[in-house]
Amino acid sequence: MSIFEHVKAKARESVKRIVLPEGDESRTVQAAAKLAQEKLVIPILLGEPGRIRAVASEVGADISGIECIDPKSSPKASSYAESLYELRKAKGVTLAAAAELVKDPMYYGVMMVKVGDADGLVSGAVHSTGDMLRPALQLIKTKPGNKVVSSSFLMDCPNKNLGHNGLLVFSDCVVVPCPTAEELAYIAISAAETARVLCGIEEPKVAMLSFSTKGSAKHDLVTKVQEATRLAKELAPELKIDGELQLDAAMVPAVGQLKAPGSEVAGYANTLVFPDLEAGNIGYKLAQRFGKSEAYGPILQGIAKPCNDLSRGCSADDIVATVAITAVQAQ
Ligand code: ACO
Repeated sequence: MSIFEHVKAKARESVKRIVLPEGDESRTVQAAAKLAQEKLVIPILLGEPGRIRAVASEVGADISGIECIDPKSSPKASSYAESLYELRKAKGVTLAAAAELVKDPMYYGVMMVKVGDADGLVSGAVHSTGDMLRPALQLIKTKPGNKVVSSSFLMDCPNKNLGHNGLLVFSDCVVVPCPTAEELAYIAISAAETARVLCGIEEPKVAMLSFSTKGSAKHDLVTKVQEATRLAKELAPELKIDGELQLDAAMVPAVGQLKAPGSEVAGYANTLVFPDLEAGNIGYKLAQRFGKSEAYGPILQGIAKPCNDLSRGCSADDIVATVAITAVQAQ
């Protein structure tokens, strides 16, 4: 079963309500119709209902039975504004400003998730990553016990000897530009959870990547990964985490045995934690473009309730996949 088939089967086990703030965008409307038809989730489209219906008829999508909410005229807007005001007043947001903010479908959608009127949110077909992330980070915040929201890509590699039958989790590739050692430790723990929940990897093997293996190089950047590894082990002693490891030591058994003898992870890693966003973002695109791996994501992790971003170049099928992933995270 492919990773997507696995996720779809899991999503159907307990159908969740997922809000799509870019409700009048053509790929989003097509995706909502497909999600409803396949009974993967209960989609909710935000936007002016007349406009949404016009887009649906242009693209031939059947959205009958799908709830469409206009944040500008919704009866719930004032209670969302009051909740938003309570959450952000210490940051200088007034009640009037909160009332304006909830007219924006991104903020309205995030508030639906915050108060439990939706189980998760997917956006980003139109918004930039930063504009999608900021309301979610400001209002939904990190999971209890976590200190940073980060992201993972689920990588499905053609070489089935790699990772878990070709499946790997790459983290963080999208959110935290320059993580501290502590943030990197939390990213590692979140990535392991993503591997378990979304890839069905029962025993994540987490490699903390670097340009050095077990002290082969001396540099402040290496020290940061060593410190992150120590902290991650302290925070999650049950997890198999090792570092610092070069990519070949993490992935190739012979190299792992040579460079990190006795390691439970080296040579067999299925969860790769990159030292910063430059390495992670470039790394997943290398695997995708040169290694012909399928990349599913980005998937936000460490956040209190699931909200996920799309690439602006996404297709309707990409949106379906991200929404199904979000629904599984919400279970
Ligand atoms: N985890 C938890 N909370 C966070 C995080 C985080 N990673 N980042 C910011 N926050 C919180 C802040 O503490 C702040 O909370 P507060 O307002 O209650 O004090 C709030 O979110 C807003 O933070 P800002 O610092 O004002 O937001 P910023 O402008 O730094 O934006 C963002 C945060 C959007 C995540 C930024 O770090 C960013 O742009 N990251 C890179 C995104 C990107 O462009 N990725 C690559 C391209 S995408 C692709 O390739 C698929």
